Amino acid sequence: MRYRKLGSSDLEVSEISLGSWLTFSGGIEQEQTQACTEAAFDAGINFFDTANVYGRGASETAWGDILSAHPRDSYILATKVMGQMSDDPAESGLSPAQIAKQIDASLSRLQTDYVDLYQAHRFDTSVPIEDTVEAFQKVVEQGKARYLGFSEWTPEQIQSAIDIAGPDLFVSSQPQYSMLWQAPEAEVFGLCAANGISQIVWSPLAQGVLTGKYRPGQDIPADSRFANDSMNMAKDLVLSDPVLEAVQRLVPIAEGAGMSLPTMALAWVLRRSELASAITGASRPEQVHANAAASGVELSADVLSAIDEALGDVPVRGPRLAPNAREGVLHRG
Ligand SMILES: NC(=O)c1ccc[n+]([C@@H]2O[C@H](COP(=O)([O-])OP(=O)(O)OC[C@H]3O[C@@H](n4cnc5c(N)ncnc54)[C@H](OP(=O)(O)O)[C@@H]3O)[C@@H](O)[C@H]2O)c1
Repeated sequence: MRYRKLGSSDLEVSEISLGSWLTFSGGIEQEQTQACTEAAFDAGINFFDTANVYGRGASETAWGDILSAHPRDSYILATKVMGQMSDDPAESGLSPAQIAKQIDASLSRLQTDYVDLYQAHRFDTSVPIEDTVEAFQKVVEQGKARYLGFSEWTPEQIQSAIDIAGPDLFVSSQPQYSMLWQAPEAEVFGLCAANGISQIVWSPLAQGVLTGKYRPGQDIPADSRFANDSMNMAKDLVLSDPVLEAVQRLVPIAEGAGMSLPTMALAWVLRRSELASAITGASRPEQVHANAAASGVELSADVLSAIDEALGDVPVRGPRLAPNAREGVLHRG
């Protein structure tokens, strides 16, 4: 496993990391969750990403039980805040009161005194950005988080926070990024790199679609994420025939390059120096080991251009600015 520096922090995170979004919040049993987590340690993965909202605390609780058996300095732990934590809509967002409450709840579930990385899961346009920044800084001052990051913020939102607190405020940006979803390259990679902020990208395998196991016109494999009704997020988008046909065109390219399709998909995201880590998901330990093997794999220029040609018009490449980008800035002050 290779490791990369996380933004301007002193953290060295594994290029392949493990997340607990769907699979570890009740989608798979605790035993499998444990097996995947232990496989991650075996494979040299030292970076684990969760969020308070995953299973409304269930993912953090599962990892609290499992990770607390390991020395705290043997893993780098990231969580997030913003999502709605109960049926009360007020139990969400990035107000100072919520941030103060949610970090304590996360630490309790994770059975630790601090997280290495505390991330804004989205931008909260209902709270002045100054208030959110100050509340996050307080979490760091109190020693409850070592570093801060954000997920899926637009350039305007990122810049609004940097204008207040400087580039050292954040060390990471967490966008969706894969061969099928390339928009962040144009949107946020440049701005973040200029401010010493690394990308740690989610769904680098497009939730498993980039393993090639979903085939156009064929049944969804029974043991896969999209066969489980509670886990089929964005199913219609990622399982459309044009997407699945493009993915099948990638299979011979990977074979020709002497690697599996998931390895090629992960090596493809890791080719960018702006990335510190690809946050993968897994439902079984074999997947963790298979995905970890992508670390250090280089793709030749010929393979990269064959991939571009095979994907054609399928990927989302251009900027996909959230409609609330300007709203967020207007809320300042
Ligand atoms: N910031 C955000 O808003 C946000 C949003 C989403 C996710 N995330 C983070 O990103 C992490 C990863 O997201 P993700 O789970 O969608 O990532 P992903 O790596 O794109 O997809 C993971 C899923 O694909 C399947 N898979 C993985 N490796 C495989 C292999 N080698 N062969 C066959 N199938 C394989 C598994 O599902 P099955 O075996 O069940 O098919 C696995 O759960 C999350 O856990 C979370 O930490 C963040």
